[in-house]
Amino acid sequence: MKKLHIETYGCQMNVADSEVVASILSPYYTITDSLREADLILLNTCSVRDNAEQRIRKRLRELASLKKKNKNLLLGLLGCMAERIKEQLLEQEKALDFIAGPDAYRSLPQLIEGASLGNTSFNVLLSEKETYDDIDPVRYDSNGISAFIAIMRGCNNFCSYCVVPYTRGRERSREPKTIIEEAQNLFEKGFREVTLLGQNVNSYYWKDVLSNMDFADLVEKIAQISPLLRVRYATSHPKDISDKLLLIMAKYPNVCHYIHLPVQSGSNNMLKKMNRVYSREYYLERIRKIKEILPDCAISTDIIAGFCGETEQDHQDTLNLMKEVGYEYAFMFKYSVREGTKAAEKFEDDITEELKIKRLEEIIALQQQLSLESNKRDIGKTVTVLVEGISKRSDEYLFGRNSQNKVCVFPKKHYKIGDYVEVKIVKCTAGTLIGEAL
Ligand code: 5AD
Ligand code: SF4
Repeated sequence: MKKLHIETYGCQMNVADSEVVASILSPYYTITDSLREADLILLNTCSVRDNAEQRIRKRLRELASLKKKNKNLLLGLLGCMAERIKEQLLEQEKALDFIAGPDAYRSLPQLIEGASLGNTSFNVLLSEKETYDDIDPVRYDSNGISAFIAIMRGCNNFCSYCVVPYTRGRERSREPKTIIEEAQNLFEKGFREVTLLGQNVNSYYWKDVLSNMDFADLVEKIAQISPLLRVRYATSHPKDISDKLLLIMAKYPNVCHYIHLPVQSGSNNMLKKMNRVYSREYYLERIRKIKEILPDCAISTDIIAGFCGETEQDHQDTLNLMKEVGYEYAFMFKYSVREGTKAAEKFEDDITEELKIKRLEEIIALQQQLSLESNKRDIGKTVTVLVEGISKRSDEYLFGRNSQNKVCVFPKKHYKIGDYVEVKIVKCTAGTLIGEAL
């Protein structure tokens, strides 16, 4: 059989999509880690920021040299960048044989065949229905313990800075029966953790003659598969994270006490321009509710520094909101204009690169401090760790995560991957808890 090498960039959804692609191509290709062995190389790409795209273009140039050595090698580009730039990409990047957008993966066998006959082939049609719900993803790069399950696709939020609604199309939910079966099968194969994925999981909704399900109902169903199966989810939009969901999280100990709740900015002016449709006060009220119902819940966020017109006061509002929440973790970015978005059309990208960098650095330094403080509060506590692998630093140590999604390392002893281990935390860094198995 021919060999396929896939490289995945961007978000967890792309990781899940690459597993769907591996499944669609499994009658023709087996997966290889090696670039040299590959008959087909696929890059599953991200457009969320310009530097993500620049990185991928650089990678394409590196891979072009492989095509000189192997005349039969095919190179395809998938995902958000294919969707954003469309067929012009084939003109700009001569090494590419074909491209496929996020809803076009079922047509990959035809696209590949066309490309192998020397035709330029592309499919960037978006669908209102495609959820790949009948496809059993091939978990080709898995630790055998944790897996992603895509429960919906697309996005209807149209945050003004964001390209995703244009690259992934309209929001659509996947039939619950197929999600529950996928989770059940994973559990039976030995997996112990599933992360339910969507751009905005809180607006998951399914209605048919048999069922009427929102996201909280779905989480409950997955939690009921087994107390030994951990359930996580990402990403939540603050505008519709419900008390019902928080109560389900409190009811089932296997639903992890960790919420990724992107705030983007602490300033109402910025939130309005970003079209986030919540205020700082509303966001903080949601945080208060999370802490009331789930006192030990960890919270992480996404933050954009230097959005259009951001004043020093707006930036200070972000810093003081971060302190008020006390985030465990944050993904932090400089604003990057994306062509075609509302912000690109309506607002000037008027914060200098220098100032964006300065503000981002201040945000990162503060988060480092908050993460360290949060980890220090865990010293002396006993936490339950699901073991994911051998520590990178030493093969005498295992690593895994606790319910709060914090990475914990501890001496291996007789424990193995997939075990739940009670670990007493004795030390920490800003990124890791270090403990002893009890
Ligand atoms: N510039 C910078 N960051 C962005 N994000 C999305 N679009 C942009 C952009 N144009 C960030 C947001 C989002 C995360 C996935 O990426 O914080 O939550
Ligand atoms: Fe990147 Fe967003 Fe597309 Fe994910 S959905 S690959 S983060 S642009």
